[in-house]
Amino acid sequence: MTVRVLVIGSGAREHALVLALRRDPSVTAVIAAPGNPGIGQQAELRQVDPCSAEAVVALATDVAADLVVIGPEVPLVLGIADAVRAAGFPVFGPSADAARIEGSKAFAKDVMAAAGVRTAHSEIVDNPADLDAALDRFGPTWVVKDDGLAAGKGVVVTADRRAARDHGAELLEQGHPVLLESFLDGPEVSLFCLVDGETVVPLLPAQDHKRVGDGDSGPNTGGMGAYTPLPWLPAETLTEIVEDVVKPVAAELVRRGSAFSGLLYAGLAVGSNGPAVVEFNCRFGDPETQAVLALLDSPFAELLHATATGRLAEVEPPRWKDGAAITVVLAAENYPARPRTGDVITGAEDNLDGDTLVLHAGTGQREDKALVSAGGRVLNVVGVGADLAQARERAYARLAQIKLPGSHFRTDIGATEVVIPERAVAAE
Ligand code: GLY
Repeated sequence: MTVRVLVIGSGAREHALVLALRRDPSVTAVIAAPGNPGIGQQAELRQVDPCSAEAVVALATDVAADLVVIGPEVPLVLGIADAVRAAGFPVFGPSADAARIEGSKAFAKDVMAAAGVRTAHSEIVDNPADLDAALDRFGPTWVVKDDGLAAGKGVVVTADRRAARDHGAELLEQGHPVLLESFLDGPEVSLFCLVDGETVVPLLPAQDHKRVGDGDSGPNTGGMGAYTPLPWLPAETLTEIVEDVVKPVAAELVRRGSAFSGLLYAGLAVGSNGPAVVEFNCRFGDPETQAVLALLDSPFAELLHATATGRLAEVEPPRWKDGAAITVVLAAENYPARPRTGDVITGAEDNLDGDTLVLHAGTGQREDKALVSAGGRVLNVVGVGADLAQARERAYARLAQIKLPGSHFRTDIGATEVVIPERAVAAE
């Protein structure tokens, strides 16, 4: 089988998807829309709006795609996968109906309750007059979220009631309902699973670092770095997550007539009562994917195509390289508030040297061809090594060669000792 793959999206996650696809010998062409200057070094770029069903279908037809991979959540929630599938193309990505697992917090909570999956207790506040009484029913610590797609930036987790109140009030002022959640203790795990109906195939577990500063300080971001695998996560806990969390949710979606096809991302906290779900997402996570795919040792297009065509149960499960991988995000000055853009980036050339990758997220090209920053998260540097220490050393050494005025990054990705709280309640 040979495949021409169309990848929709423009971030470092899509750059990682493109690179993993290019390593699959069955892939004869990769087209990315709209992509970015880094992706353009490994794929043909087409300037198409990822949220226009008509434009994406026309592009899939024009490039004779054998497989369409939709990276970001917004087009999935808008039903772009449905339109492309209806036009006869195999699509890796869920229907709008199934993508509600990320797009609608109320739907996700309902599915989890029906599936018997542990998650945070939550309440939605849509009237400023109700905010104080609702805050009194939570905290400390308070978890205050924008009840919509906010790319991680709408979340405030704080022990300071006033900060929680200010964030909730600001969201309500902007007309966004507020989701209050009980705080889940324990380290976070991101587990990505290929899902085709009730067939669930887990990838390597990873850990994201969502706060902007070292030691988990400062505001939440879309993610400042990640590493995989997780040496501190017992194999039995991983099995518990697959068997008692992801499989029941996939089965419940099938039962409701909203079968999931694509990548189901379980974000969990592994606390004193065992794993509990923080969120489900309907697509690959960013920046964890950049590290996870760096260790993939199986034909990626085959896995995605099998998922897209309902044959996931028939293919060999993914194989992984030994060792570890980390992703470190280089962010623009002022990210996550109002990132400065338009600064010249140097030292990011020759982006694939085997042990490190430089993936593009928010980059652009000036008329004179200079590479410039064009977003908050600008580049991702991935390091691969025999162990986490070597992967870190390689990623940070490569990062030191890149210059972007005013930029910042976390220096402690994958460096903190992680301890799971002792189980208060035995797993059933
Ligand atoms: N890693 C966070 C996200 O992809 O939503």
